[in-house]
Amino acid sequence: MHLFIYSSIYLFIYLCIYLFIYLYLCQVWSSIFMKHNDSKMFCLTGSGVNKVFVKEHDDAVLPCSLSTRENLVGMLFDWRKNGQKDGQKEVFLYDAGNHYNNGRQGQDKQFKGRVSHFQGQLMNGNASIKIQNAKMADSGIYSCDFPKLQPGQTFSIELVLVSGALIDMAKHLGNLSYNIWSKMKQKVSYSPVVLDPNTAHSDLFLSTDLTSVCCVDGQKLPRNPERFNSVISVLGSEGFDSGTHSWDVVVGASPAWILGVAAESFQRNKDVGSQSGLWRILYYKGEYTACSRPDPDTVLPVKKKLQRIRVHLDWSKGELSFSDPDTDTHLHTFKHTFTEKLFPYFNTNKPYLLEISPRRNPLSVTVNHHHTFDFNNQQEVTVLLHLYLSECALKYFGFGVFL
Ligand SMILES: *[C@@H]1O[C@H](CO)[C@@H](O)[C@H](O)[C@H]1NC(C)=O
Ligand SMILES: *[C@@H]1O[C@H](CO)[C@@H](O)[C@H](O)[C@H]1NC(C)=O
Ligand SMILES: *[C@@H]1O[C@H](CO)[C@@H](O)[C@H](O)[C@H]1NC(C)=O
Repeated sequence: MHLFIYSSIYLFIYLCIYLFIYLYLCQVWSSIFMKHNDSKMFCLTGSGVNKVFVKEHDDAVLPCSLSTRENLVGMLFDWRKNGQKDGQKEVFLYDAGNHYNNGRQGQDKQFKGRVSHFQGQLMNGNASIKIQNAKMADSGIYSCDFPKLQPGQTFSIELVLVSGALIDMAKHLGNLSYNIWSKMKQKVSYSPVVLDPNTAHSDLFLSTDLTSVCCVDGQKLPRNPERFNSVISVLGSEGFDSGTHSWDVVVGASPAWILGVAAESFQRNKDVGSQSGLWRILYYKGEYTACSRPDPDTVLPVKKKLQRIRVHLDWSKGELSFSDPDTDTHLHTFKHTFTEKLFPYFNTNKPYLLEISPRRNPLSVTVNHHHTFDFNNQQEVTVLLHLYLSECALKYFGFGVFL
């Protein structure tokens, strides 16, 4: 009888934990992946490296074209992946019709049978390749090299696999080895602001960790009321109505962006230009301008191209300041008696990434059941919660967690 009661209680607790993890993961997963249906998006980053975001198991097209549109049929181009530890890997080499898919030797085994070029595009100077069934291990920086051109040309493309990092963790839950912990320690970085995918305009692409955004088109997203429909904007997921908050945004090479804060009541489906409740600086045509309606715009006396912008909100004091963290130069301060919750605001209509700078991960982990968690970080807590719960489930209930 006792045994029956105990087993029922255990079973019940286990089911609750399972359900909780499942629902949580589903929510995170779907909120991220509802957006990421199109696997062939790419953004330009400040460093001149193109970033291609691809969902795990989809095909990745890495773009590389000569602007001269020179015919490549009789030429040579070489794709390599730059590894940190293992040096360069041969991904795809095409030499006047001779390549790895028709007998040429030397391709790295990681890419064997998975990489193809676009034969019909060669005559347009297009040396793009397709990697089938992209895996996490394919993430990294690729170079597309034309060594025989005068002068030689090399392009860099970063492939970013958008998987659920969380799901990946979950796969390893049964094996809480030191390796996994330490890997996680490097992976999980702490962002002061996480973007809210439900507010993102349908042309915006958010990275899986919800800390970068760029503009692409052609996504079909549900028209929910939180979503920006007229301006290509996205808000941070957390609003502030007290205290001080600050975040850095890498704007890099982006030729046009708007950063600032928006009040909770700001109308997302109406014309932004005339509404109050949005304090921002915008960069356009080489000029920095501070705007907040109904005040007139202020053109800022900034001559150089800024790489990063620090946004500092002191809600209680009623100040919103912008500065250049690289030179510690003040750009502009808005003074206003704030009465509402304010959300970080990001706007770009260009295919260049705006990235919220991650900070060094404050997590410290000691293995063997002494864990120190940082509960200020949502991502970290999610990951750790999964690990913790599964570890508990395994230890106390003798069940594996199947996700
Ligand atoms: C992606 O979108 C297309 C239609 O646009 C749909 O048919 C397909 O099922 C979607 N794929 C995923 C993985 O959601
Ligand atoms: C190169 O070819 C690929 C594959 O057909 C295509 O997706 C890409 O848009 C082409 N690039 C250019 C610049 O035409
Ligand atoms: C689990 O641990 C074993 C032994 O340390 C290792 O060989 C195996 O690859 C690990 N599995 C995973 C999924 O990390």
